Amino acid sequence: MSGIAGRHVVLGVSGGIAGYKACVVARRLTEAGVTVDVVMTAAATEFVRPLVFEALTGRPVGVSLWEAGRALDHIRLGKDPDLVVVAPATARLLARAAQGLADDLLTSLLLARRAPLLLCPAMNDQMFRHPETARNLEVLRGRGVHVLGPATGPLARGEGDGPGRMVEPEEILAHVERLLRAGAPFAGRKVLVTAGPTREALDPVRMVTNRSSGRMGFALARAAWLRGADVTLVAGPTALAAPLGPDVVRVESTADLEAAVAAALPSADVLLMAAAPADFRPARRAETKTARAGGAVTLALEPTADILLATRELRKRGAVIVGFALETGDAAAKARAKLTAKHLDLVVANDAAEPGAGPDVETNRVTLVSAKGATALPLLSKDEVAEAILDRVAQLLAPRG
Ligand code: CTP
Repeated sequence: MSGIAGRHVVLGVSGGIAGYKACVVARRLTEAGVTVDVVMTAAATEFVRPLVFEALTGRPVGVSLWEAGRALDHIRLGKDPDLVVVAPATARLLARAAQGLADDLLTSLLLARRAPLLLCPAMNDQMFRHPETARNLEVLRGRGVHVLGPATGPLARGEGDGPGRMVEPEEILAHVERLLRAGAPFAGRKVLVTAGPTREALDPVRMVTNRSSGRMGFALARAAWLRGADVTLVAGPTALAAPLGPDVVRVESTADLEAAVAAALPSADVLLMAAAPADFRPARRAETKTARAGGAVTLALEPTADILLATRELRKRGAVIVGFALETGDAAAKARAKLTAKHLDLVVANDAAEPGAGPDVETNRVTLVSAKGATALPLLSKDEVAEAILDRVAQLLAPRG
């Protein structure tokens, strides 16, 4: 997690078995430099002792409205934080919040609250399916409250599977980061990211492809989503797990990628074309597997479409278009040529021959090339490179309002 140090979060915990997952949330936020004030309902203390949260956050834990020396805590804790998260939020907590029933410290601060609220429901599946719970969630959503989950899966031991499970800490943390970081110029913008290689079939089992891992594009998609953008990630075949947040469209060939870009580009404010589409495809695809016994084979390859160029007319007015140039030798000069030839606002250039750069490593050393000049960045992780690219895109996007 990055960009959230120094922020202030109130973590409300109500009485459910998923309270143990709230401990992970408290710990990870504290490690990221966030000030975490935990407020528990009396029922929550039956599952996890306040001492656990106190040890994890290094701060006193609020439970009662009537504690000596902590008068008006509900007003202070309602007013001060940047975000209030309730995880787990039980059926009873949802009912009290929807009614505005302020009968303990947590529900009182929910009424006094100014910050955005994220609720992570957790309950038995029958309680979740009950129309009263559905109505309470609808009321809360209607008031602009963010609701995450519940997930479907194994419930408390012996209770089988069903909807009601609290989402995992990783997912809560990703949404907390997004809510804390969302702001101009990415909040509400549509960002289209392409990632990974494409595959061009030679016959039903063989193909032409390249070494792209998709890591750079996946890192960009996640980073843009964490900044508040609505992200569509069009991904060629990769071994990477889909990032939390972005909508993911899976494609196989360069023609599939072109079609997916053509569908999403007209409404995109930003295109980050990090994919490495196959530039050539077999001129002929064999319908059956070509047998080895047939002897040597000569492949005829034909060029695929240049997607950036082929979809140029579909770009929204004012959209920021970013291309990538993986070269071997003189990357910045070749990137400048691509900037003009493909009508781009920014080219992220790297030299595959340099140590630590290239398609299938965790790091990258890139040069950002725009009409204003070139900026060489040091060797960074792909997540750090993604943040640097988005900082540059933010500058290009902001004046276009
Ligand atoms: N690209 C594209 N369509 C292709 C191939 C590449 O839109 N068929 C995009 C890539 O996603 C990247 C940029 O074009 O953002 C540059 O890719 P690169 O392979 O360096 O460009 P080419 O135009 O294929 O140039 P070269 O002749 O150097 O291979």
